[in-house]
Amino acid sequence: MPRAEPRIEPAVPVQVIAVTGGKGGTGKTSVAVNLATALAQMGRKTMLLDGDLGLANVDVLLGLTPRYTLEHVLRGERTIEEVILETSAGVRVVPASSGVARMACLSPSEQNGIVQAFSTLPGPLHVLIIDTAAGIAEPVLQFCQAAQQVLLLLRDEPTSLTDTYALIKLLSRDRGVRQFRVVTNLSRRVEEGQIAFRRLQRVTDRYLEVVLDHVGDIPEDPSLQKSVQAQRPVLEAFPASPAAKAFKSLARAAVQWPFPSGPSGRIEFFMERMLARPAPRLMVLK
Ligand SMILES: Nc1ncnc2c1ncn2[C@@H]1O[C@H](COP(=O)(O)OP(=O)(O)OP(=O)(O)O)[C@@H](O)[C@H]1O
Ligand SMILES: [Mg+2]
Repeated sequence: MPRAEPRIEPAVPVQVIAVTGGKGGTGKTSVAVNLATALAQMGRKTMLLDGDLGLANVDVLLGLTPRYTLEHVLRGERTIEEVILETSAGVRVVPASSGVARMACLSPSEQNGIVQAFSTLPGPLHVLIIDTAAGIAEPVLQFCQAAQQVLLLLRDEPTSLTDTYALIKLLSRDRGVRQFRVVTNLSRRVEEGQIAFRRLQRVTDRYLEVVLDHVGDIPEDPSLQKSVQAQRPVLEAFPASPAAKAFKSLARAAVQWPFPSGPSGRIEFFMERMLARPAPRLMVLK
């Protein structure tokens, strides 16, 4: 029997959003999961890459039990399609955590393998959301420098502000990231998010050449905690809750963000950018 021709989809530019924030526990995974769900509900073909090694992983929040992870793809034991899981909202999830630690030190052939794997994904893809770990480890910086959008989770407390500032400083100084989109989370009053954002912006305006945009504010909401317990996105478990409404409004904003055009927006080019080694910083001796 003749073999079926592989399906060739026109290469669609992908909006790659890295969700990060410096400090632990600010809501990165919750935002990654619920933003992905909201975008999928709006008809966007969305993929979620779990880029965190921590415990509160994407698969746990979604009640998924992955058999394989990106590590198996890196080892050449599984194809990317065998690794991907799909949520009830239609979000495709790449459980990556165990492979991510090695992302920063892949051999050239492993790099090619991973770029190939992503470039042959079946079906169109509009948005790729990456849930990153807290902190400033190399994989976090690599995801952010390669993504089109860096989404920073901020809460109104001194450690979140200083850690977020440190991350912005590093990304702008060493990795050429100039624009940051900020989501304030765990706000107890309407103004709290605005206040936290302005505090951060005051310092970045003074010391760094960056542009910050306040793109969303998620209230502190017990429904979100309950949905974590139920291992479901709050958008599905409590669609009318204040947090769910905030995620929907964030998703409506996200679809307006400028979209990459041309080949640089294609998924394989994102993977190549991500795997590229950062250029060593030149020391200027005076
Ligand atoms: N808006 C909110 N209202 C109530 N609880 C929240 C909210 N945002 C996050 N949480 C709770 O805070 C905890 C940490 O959230 P999450 O796992 O999303 O943070 P994270 O930044 O991904 O953490 P880590 O740095 O460990 O990866 C979760 O238990 C979650 O339920
Ligand atoms: Mg997390």
